[in-house]
Amino acid sequence: MSTPSTNHGQRLNRRPRRLRTSPVMRRMVAETSLEPRHLVLPMFVAEGLAEPKPITSLPGVVQHTEDSLVDAVAEAISVGIPCVDLFGVPLEENKDAEGSEAWNPGGILNKALRRLRDEFGDDVLVMADTCLDEFTDHGHCGVLREDGHGGVRVDNDDTLEFYRKMAVAQAEAGAHIISPSGMMDGQIEAIREALDDAGHQDVAIMAYSAKYASAFYGPFREAVGSSLQGDRRTYQQDVANRRESLLEVELDVAEGADIVMVKPAMAFLDVLREVADSSPVPVAAYQVSGEYAMICAAGERGWIDRDAAMLEAVISIRRAGADQVLTYDAVNIARRLRADG
Ligand code: PBG
Repeated sequence: MSTPSTNHGQRLNRRPRRLRTSPVMRRMVAETSLEPRHLVLPMFVAEGLAEPKPITSLPGVVQHTEDSLVDAVAEAISVGIPCVDLFGVPLEENKDAEGSEAWNPGGILNKALRRLRDEFGDDVLVMADTCLDEFTDHGHCGVLREDGHGGVRVDNDDTLEFYRKMAVAQAEAGAHIISPSGMMDGQIEAIREALDDAGHQDVAIMAYSAKYASAFYGPFREAVGSSLQGDRRTYQQDVANRRESLLEVELDVAEGADIVMVKPAMAFLDVLREVADSSPVPVAAYQVSGEYAMICAAGERGWIDRDAAMLEAVISIRRAGADQVLTYDAVNIARRLRADG
């Protein structure tokens, strides 16, 4: 039970609690806002599915059929989400060493991009993941070449040729935004040039500029049926590094990136803040599969409040400087934001 205060109080000029006294007061002084327009929804579309297939390690996320994808995008639009980011999952038999389904206009990703653009026009921004890893039979983001010493390496410059073809095919299919995520050097310049040469000057590039070789991508590998053995440490960044991200961002901006990205988000908020402080272009951050899955898993066990923790994580990503946040929880969050008015 509370009892009336007998204490008339110390004289304190500064009482930060005054600005926390009511929900309206807190809303008025909040430094960071989160609105549906800040959210980007990553989505998966798989070839040869009869119905949507749940992804065990990403509760609430599915591999879509082309039809269920259309319905899910309509739902995202209805709650105010401005952009969806599409990943394609081809049949195993359609993977090859170079990932050629990636630039086949009839390949699953390009087909789905075209379907979405035809269906929704400019009502939603259709973003395409521009990387070979879902399409190569070895699961790497680039092509493998002999290194001349009995081994193989992911060849940077040969890969760029394939990225050009993939980006142009995606733009032809109707993507508004191309998002190169493979971490090859020079990929933004190569893609910008290829898009321009093909007449796609207005197609934007969201560059995965500072992308780390992270352990938090685990569930994503299930989501796309990854064929990867080994790791991506020769092309994605070492988690120990901070300064390197500033260089990656600087290069991507110089090469023509319209938006830069930091990924993952939560373990790299320091990097995000630093990039946001110096970037002349908008900065996105990706709450990756492992970040999302951890919160869901702890929530399922009743160890944390799932929705509250998810919102806190996404607001923190905004607070650290992200203009856009890619999150698998985008629709749920947007719905709750709208309900809160
Ligand atoms: C690869 C790619 C990855 C993700 C997006 N694009 C994984 C990887 O680098 O292995 C991860 C997204 C996530 O974990 O949610 N092109």
